[in-house]
Amino acid sequence: MTLETLVKRIEDNKLEETRRNLGLVGSSHALEQVMKTVELVAPTDISVLITGESGTGKELIAQAIHEMSKRSSNPFVVVNAGAIPEGIMESELFGHEKGAFTGAVAARKGYFELADGGTLFLDEIGEMPLETQVRLLRILEGREFIRVGGSVSRKVDVRVLAATNRDLADAVSRGDFREDLYYRLNAVKIYVPPLRERQDDIPALVEYFAERFSRKNKINFPGFTQDAILSMLDYAWPGNVRELKNFVETVIVMEKGQRIDGDAVRRHLPGNQIRMDSHLPVPVHKSSEELEREFLYRTLFELKAEMAQLREAVVGKYIMPQRRLPAAGFTEPATYDVVSSVAEPVIEDEDHFPTLQEMERELIYRALERSGGNKRKAAAMLAISERTLYRKIKEYALPF
Ligand SMILES: Nc1ncnc2c1ncn2[C@@H]1O[C@H](COP(=O)(O)OP(=O)(O)OP(=O)(O)O)[C@@H](O)[C@H]1O
Ligand SMILES: [Mg+2]
Repeated sequence: MTLETLVKRIEDNKLEETRRNLGLVGSSHALEQVMKTVELVAPTDISVLITGESGTGKELIAQAIHEMSKRSSNPFVVVNAGAIPEGIMESELFGHEKGAFTGAVAARKGYFELADGGTLFLDEIGEMPLETQVRLLRILEGREFIRVGGSVSRKVDVRVLAATNRDLADAVSRGDFREDLYYRLNAVKIYVPPLRERQDDIPALVEYFAERFSRKNKINFPGFTQDAILSMLDYAWPGNVRELKNFVETVIVMEKGQRIDGDAVRRHLPGNQIRMDSHLPVPVHKSSEELEREFLYRTLFELKAEMAQLREAVVGKYIMPQRRLPAAGFTEPATYDVVSSVAEPVIEDEDHFPTLQEMERELIYRALERSGGNKRKAAAMLAISERTLYRKIKEYALPF
């Protein structure tokens, strides 16, 4: 074996392992092309702009680039520019000093500092205000930045990945997006095609989501018929992989763990209106009552699974009094068992039943404590994304 083939083999393994760890499923030609580019750009520090419709997997692709880079043991920080109010965008990204504005009771690191040594993923980059774009460009050019209300110049070593489902070139021509930043971010562009253009991925995705969902919820799910899969191939999935995932989970719940055939799929697909092969002029929507019920079922299911996970996580730590949720039409009542082995009860007050939030805060605190403040490790211990962890730390004002 030549050195070259050996290196290639190691790289292939790394790609496979990353895909497995991230649960990045699919082997369509289109996705393989995307993964080839991922492999090429990952080891470099080049900025990558990931484009594609909503729900196509842009964030997963960004994660894959990070995982396959030399930064993988450092943080991967996700910032959703579309979700941050414009007024606090600068302080979120660049941090602020104590007293910088009303409410700034302590100095705080921004996302750039939190991502130092790692990767910052700027989602919905098209939503970033123009003034922030200027500062972002300066950082990308290797220049220093100053926290809001501060005077000390700081420098960070951050690789930036960005994503958008908007046409940025169009935003540039309208003056909503800076041209210089656009070219800077666009050094490499990865376009993730919509699911309807890579239908080959659908069967594997369906199987993956069904397996994961039924395992998590302890459902003995016998699977889909071939006709069911064919019906799913027939649909255009305007919400892409995210919609497919939600659909699979909903249909498993609604069909109560029975084998799912084509009829069932067609019954649950949104009113037949967006079929690839039909030109129905009038969209027929499901009644809102029906949608609400499906949503409720799913939420109950997920809640139940989360409770089960939480219970496993806190066995020996908490006393859980026997309680029953009102089981609104739900066949399996959700019960919290009594956990009797109490090693070090944390919330033991008879009159105070811990709320989910209190328990969550406590668990997150413990994970951070145990990981020595390492967010990546703590997130892995809690089986949540780092992004969620950062959000929770903020939400619960945890001192990390
Ligand atoms: N190839 C894939 N394999 C497994 N899961 C996938 C794949 N692509 C997407 N998903 C799942 O679909 C959902 C949406 O993916 P993701 O958040 O990455 O999409 P997005 O392109 O960032 O969407 P948006 O533009 O709305 O932010 C997630 O739950 C993700 O895990
Ligand atoms: Mg996204």
